[in-house]
Amino acid sequence: MKSVIVFGSLNMDLTIQCERIPQQGETVEGSNFLSNPGGKGGNQAVAAAKFGASTKMIACVGQDVFGQKLLNVLEEYKVDCQSVKISKSGQTGVAVITCHEGDNRIILSSGTNHELKAEDVKEVLYKVAKPGDLFVTQYECEQNTVLESLQIAKEMGMYTIFNPAPAKIIPTQYYTYIDLLVVNQTEAEFQTKIFPQEEESCKEAIQSMRQMGAQQVIITLGSSGSIFNLGEELYQVPACQIEAVDTTAAGDTFIGVLAACLAEEKDLKESVQYATKAAALTITRYGAQQAIPYRKEIEI
Ligand code: RIB
Repeated sequence: MKSVIVFGSLNMDLTIQCERIPQQGETVEGSNFLSNPGGKGGNQAVAAAKFGASTKMIACVGQDVFGQKLLNVLEEYKVDCQSVKISKSGQTGVAVITCHEGDNRIILSSGTNHELKAEDVKEVLYKVAKPGDLFVTQYECEQNTVLESLQIAKEMGMYTIFNPAPAKIIPTQYYTYIDLLVVNQTEAEFQTKIFPQEEESCKEAIQSMRQMGAQQVIITLGSSGSIFNLGEELYQVPACQIEAVDTTAAGDTFIGVLAACLAEEKDLKESVQYATKAAALTITRYGAQQAIPYRKEIEI
C-alpha cells in the first residue's frame, strides 16, 4: 500500500471570530476564542489520515505545551509522528487567525517550522519512503528545504504534490520535480501573473505552469470549484453549495484527501471529487484539524 508522507508545518492556531476587522490602532470585540491544532502540513496529514491513508509526518515542534499538544492530536488521528523532531530551543509555530464573515486572515510565527534542513528530510525519506509513495509539501517551512526535498523525493521515485502556500516563487529549475501542483487563484497569479477566473484565464495559467515543468496542475477556485488538466484536456469540478462558517484548512483538506485518494490509485477526476466534498465539509465547522471530516462523512 502506498503511504502519504507529508513534510510541513505544525502550528497551534489561536482563532477568534469578529464582527468586523479592526482599523489601525482600533480594538474590536471578538468571540468564540478557539485554540486548536493546525499548520498547513499538519492539516494535510490529518485530512489524509482521516480518509484512511497510511500517513507519516516530517516536521519540527518545540519542547513546549503547544508542541506536545500538536503531537498528541496528530497521533489521535493516526498520523505517524515518529519522524517529527523536537527542538531543544525553538518555539512551536503559532498562527493567529481572525474569522470574519466565514473568511479568515492569518498571521504566522513560523518558529520551529523553519528548523529542518533538506538533509534532515532526506534522512527520514531514506528510512521510511518507497518509490510510488506520495510526498506532499507546502511553503510554510524553510523555502530551500522545501524545494530540495521535492527534488530528493522525486529522485527517489515518489509522486510529488506541491502546494506553494503561502505564495512564494518556485524557481523554474524546481518545477521539474513537481508531479502535481495545487494552487488557489492568488497562488496561481503569483506564479504566472495571470489571475485565473473564467475558462480562458485558467487555461492560460495552467499552460504557463505546465510549460515551466509541472506535470499536472489543479487550480482551486473557491466557490467555483476547481479546474485541472488531464494531458491536454481541461476539466472543471464544481464546488458543493454550502454555507461557510470558517474556511480555515479547506485547501489543506482538499490536498490531504486528494493525496489519500491517489494513494489508493483512484484516478485524478474521482480524487478531485472526493477532495471537493471533503473541503466543503471542513468549512461548515470551526477550526482546522478538528473541522476536517472522516471518510465515512465524505462517502455519505
Ligand atoms: O491553511 C490553514 C493553516 O494555515 C492554519 O491551520 C494555520 O496554521 C496556517 O498555517
